[in-house]
Amino acid sequence: MAPTGEPAGLAVASVRVAARLRGELRLPGDKSISHRALMLAALAVGESRIRGAGDGADVRSTAGIVAALGASVERVETDGRTVSYRVVSPGVDGLTEPDGILDCGNSGTSLRLISGILAGLPMTTILDGDASLRRRPVARIIEPLRSMGAVLHARRNDSLPPLTVIGHTPLRAIDIATPVPSAQVKSAILLAGLRADGRTTVREAVATRDHTERMLRARGVAVEREDSADGRVAWTVQGGVAVQAVDEQVPGDVSAAAFWLVAGAIHPDAALTIHDVGVNPTRRAVIDILRSMGARIEEQARSDVPDDGVGEPIADLVVRSSDLRAVDLGPADVAAAIDEIPVLCLAATAARGTTTIRGAGELRHKESDRISGIAAGLRAMGARIQVDGDDLSIEGGAPLRGAPTDSLDDHRLAMTFAIAGLVAAGETTIARPGSAAISYPGFFDDLERVRA
Ligand code: S3P
Repeated sequence: MAPTGEPAGLAVASVRVAARLRGELRLPGDKSISHRALMLAALAVGESRIRGAGDGADVRSTAGIVAALGASVERVETDGRTVSYRVVSPGVDGLTEPDGILDCGNSGTSLRLISGILAGLPMTTILDGDASLRRRPVARIIEPLRSMGAVLHARRNDSLPPLTVIGHTPLRAIDIATPVPSAQVKSAILLAGLRADGRTTVREAVATRDHTERMLRARGVAVEREDSADGRVAWTVQGGVAVQAVDEQVPGDVSAAAFWLVAGAIHPDAALTIHDVGVNPTRRAVIDILRSMGARIEEQARSDVPDDGVGEPIADLVVRSSDLRAVDLGPADVAAAIDEIPVLCLAATAARGTTTIRGAGELRHKESDRISGIAAGLRAMGARIQVDGDDLSIEGGAPLRGAPTDSLDDHRLAMTFAIAGLVAAGETTIARPGSAAISYPGFFDDLERVRA
């Protein structure tokens, strides 16, 4: 393997086929939970501790925003992939208007969730980010927040960032269905609901990750859940309830674990152990989908963190070389494994039969258009992938060969192509590999280690 090391500064990384994969991995803290822990720490009066947060660029963007709003954010210690924070905040009523623009970098979660908070604060803020973020849709948060009385404006007829939030008007509680299955949209409405004049209910047609709801409960805010017979879920918060400061340990990121689960399953000589992975029922779909494809994944749940709907369940995962078969995934699977679909496409290339993924349109609105990005990279490596609108079909069994690929500056594509390189004959190159550090600093070091 060429010196991939830490390729943040390299224009291209190179990965050669690996003879075997062995090792133990500890992942960055879960990105979704880390963002929320920092934001909720800003809302609470006093000192919050966040241990084991992800130290990727996205979470750093949120830390910067929280500091710009007037909370003290101290990085207590870091091992390069996780970081512990000490946040001391005056609480939501003591936050102050920042002097400049709030920089969300590459992070859609930072932008959409913080908008829900800012909508109810007496200040004017402007949220912006990098070129990719400026292509991410924001009408999905502007519309529900406006129906609560908030004032927001964005570029291109209120569709794209930068986004301005003028929070001087009091918020009305609402009962609303999310326009798209999105935990970011749901969370923005619930966070705004904390400042509204009554009970705010968000209804989801397809259940999405429930970290905001669990983390609010853990901080003393009652969050009611109502399940309908048809699988719909409604969440309700009461405005005016204070968020308490807590000490939280963030589990390892299951979306980062997904790369090793696929690597282990598709490599012919692999055994990998991944420690302390968050296995929240609304996040673990990638594990269950891979198992339904025949992946040999063992799960050892940590008994000290039972799933009580408040904390986050954790497990150690062991994955071994597997004989995979194709699977059919529909829109609910796409919503449940939204960030893992790219690497699941790689798994499908190694499976017997044709995998279909229907209703994957949301992937076009991520850090890149992930449908065309994944199809281009895997096709260059010899995979047989058809794209028909928002549907994909992947005919498994064509052996991958090393080829030039491009991450499009999208972390999940960079890591998927690097994992593909471990099983592809010869050498795979990945243009713009540094994007991996958006969610997984140290990814290329781990790649070196498990192949050694
Ligand atoms: C996230 C929700 C998902 C996901 C993103 C993180 C979150 O986005 O893709 O990486 O932390 O709430 P959507 O809710 O927009 O699908």
